[in-house]
Amino acid sequence: MFEPRDAPYPELKKTHTMSRTGRPYSDFKPPAAAPVWAAIEGLGRYHVLLAAIELDVFDALRDAGPSTAAALAERLDVSVPHLASLLDGVIALGLLDKVRDVYELNDTAKRYLVSNGPACMADLIAVAPGPHDNWTRLADTVRHGRPSTPIEDDPEAFYVPLVEGTFTTMWRTATRADLKMRYSTTPAARILDLGAGGAPWAIAMLTACPEGSAVVNDFDAVLDVARRKTAEFGVAGRCEFRPGSYFEIDIEPDAYDIVVLGHICRAEGAEGARRLIRIAFDALRPGGRVVLADYFQDPEKKMNPHAVMMGVTMMASTARGFTYTPGEFGDWLRTAGFSDLRLIEPIGFQQSIIATRPPR
Ligand SMILES: C[S@@+](CC[C@H](N)C(=O)[O-])C[C@H]1O[C@@H](n2cnc3c(N)ncnc32)[C@H](O)[C@@H]1O
Repeated sequence: MFEPRDAPYPELKKTHTMSRTGRPYSDFKPPAAAPVWAAIEGLGRYHVLLAAIELDVFDALRDAGPSTAAALAERLDVSVPHLASLLDGVIALGLLDKVRDVYELNDTAKRYLVSNGPACMADLIAVAPGPHDNWTRLADTVRHGRPSTPIEDDPEAFYVPLVEGTFTTMWRTATRADLKMRYSTTPAARILDLGAGGAPWAIAMLTACPEGSAVVNDFDAVLDVARRKTAEFGVAGRCEFRPGSYFEIDIEPDAYDIVVLGHICRAEGAEGARRLIRIAFDALRPGGRVVLADYFQDPEKKMNPHAVMMGVTMMASTARGFTYTPGEFGDWLRTAGFSDLRLIEPIGFQQSIIATRPPR
């Protein structure tokens, strides 16, 4: 049914203001349809980027330099008009530049989308939204309170490519976190990295603490990524790899200077997050610190669209996952016995809560 007070000629209203023509016939001005179009186009925008990555568009432009669609199509062995359409889509996303008919990398593409970019996210794009089929079944997930195929059904299949894709971002975060929490000043630091993935946090900390050592935990197949990455960074010899669920492995009490809960709490739901926080508390020596990295919601769960959408992503693809506020995590940390809570943001969009197990 139509809204009975809708303006009959809304397009006239832009100029038909009181200052020009006296009181308009109605105070009601319809909102633009732009947010609806933005949602509709969201699917296409994502797939434009995904296809550009799959076709190696960004690496080809890096190697060839500024190119026409025809030259690039020949290099990539694809259809010229279809590639030109795709490239214009990438331009619309703000991820390439075009001068007349010549396409070239812009600074965003050079940093995040070419495979050797300093903050490369190329491998993350296909995996970050979770299994794509789960998005087409979102209404069913909301109906039943659970996705039909949560990633927990086969966690290693999902997490191996995910942690490959997130490694660079998390390693940059972990490296810069030292400026905020000075883990490098802990002599012979003992580190416990739970659900470590490729072990970006353990690697950053061991690199900064030459006498340090780390217990690196994850599922065995995911630990293969950590084994390879720690070897690449020359710290594998100071790591003990402890496979298995972080809820089930043996952990020495009162033993660690730092426990890292890096992007693992939100997948476990509120109860699981509280369990992980208690595990971290028991593992730390008095005076030791937990690093709880996550995507935090604002108190009203509406001001940070990135965290809001991460919450929806967790809901769409995990059995228990949602996103939480620093206030909620703060309550759980204090209830477990932690003190001196701080929120740090080592790089944009990557935040962590640092909390201390009080010294005896
Ligand atoms: C989002 S990734 C984060 C990886 C890494 N900590 C980081 O910050 O980049 C979550 C990790 O938790 C691991 N994980 C999930 N459930 C786990 C469990 N029950 N026990 C151990 N690891 C688990 C996954 O395999 C994955 O490597």
